[in-house]
Amino acid sequence: MIKRVGVLTGGGDCPGLNAVIRAVVRRSIMYGDYEIVGIKYGWRGLVDNLTMPLRREDVRGLLHRGGTILGTSRTNIFKSQDLAAKAIDNYKKLKLDALIAIGGEDTLGAARKLGDMGIKVVGCPKTIDNDLNGTDLTFGFDTAVMIATEAIDRLHTTAESHDRVLVCEVMGRHAGWIATYAGLAGGADAILIPEKPINVDEVCESVLMRSKHGMNFSIIVVAEGAKIAGQEVLASKKIDDFGHVQLGGVGAALAQLIEQKTGFETRVTVLGHIQRGGTPTAFDRILASRYGVAAMDAVHQGHFGVLVGLKGNDIVEVPLAQVSEGIRTVDEKFYEMTKTFWGF
Ligand code: F6P
Repeated sequence: MIKRVGVLTGGGDCPGLNAVIRAVVRRSIMYGDYEIVGIKYGWRGLVDNLTMPLRREDVRGLLHRGGTILGTSRTNIFKSQDLAAKAIDNYKKLKLDALIAIGGEDTLGAARKLGDMGIKVVGCPKTIDNDLNGTDLTFGFDTAVMIATEAIDRLHTTAESHDRVLVCEVMGRHAGWIATYAGLAGGADAILIPEKPINVDEVCESVLMRSKHGMNFSIIVVAEGAKIAGQEVLASKKIDDFGHVQLGGVGAALAQLIEQKTGFETRVTVLGHIQRGGTPTAFDRILASRYGVAAMDAVHQGHFGVLVGLKGNDIVEVPLAQVSEGIRTVDEKFYEMTKTFWGF
């Protein structure tokens, strides 16, 4: 008998989502007896019954395409009992035998709750922020790091030409993985992350020290969630369905302080959604393909309530509940090591 498997992508988009969708479909074809149903716009699609077929022909040419052909949203079905009930009702109406949810902590948190209510779910870890518990790596992160590194490389030459400090604000709401990796790869003079309170005086001392050694420019990489005087900087007061504020502006606030305290002309570049858009790297295409295959394997083997993840170089299944146990923050030792390269 043909089994119907729903697939949805939730939360912020991320390079590699289409590669996961393609891999699920291709693996299902290998097994035979499966019909894959695309659920559009994340959980919203399950509530509003928005679907599209995912056949072989629907996933051609997807491997290198950024974004998600399914669309995405930040709808939280557990915001009201009514929404959750509708989602479960539609799951039944669609005659789904299983559901693969591709997303970050919010999407997968909802998946876990649905799993507890008897829905057969498998989770697949996505976020450029790389802060998800239960896996060593999320797809999309490598692409974001590559984009941010290239930007930092470019900022170097203009900073040097003008004797300026350039602050580069990258994404990273709760964890500074992108900042740490791109900062290290790009040779930043300071890397500021949400896990560590920003010490503005220390940053300024480093800028001045470099100048004493004849280097009249500095590159400072800051994650959007890094805190100045214990406070996150908000782009707006808007709060999404999951209670998240819209971050943005820490780079500008920091640039102003650096200019005041050091006298160096300071500019800010906010990379924003450029880090999430466009073609995934080869690494992310491979990781996303492995995750898609593993998610379909889990469905085929009847393993539900699990997240497929990476441990070392192996794909593993862990309980979905692990995702909600906390955020995977930057390894302290690794972060401290990057300081070897800061300043002069
Ligand atoms: O979830 C990844 C992320 O890129 C965060 O770093 C960022 O705060 C958030 O998404 C912003 O997403 P959006 O602008 O889509 O709300």
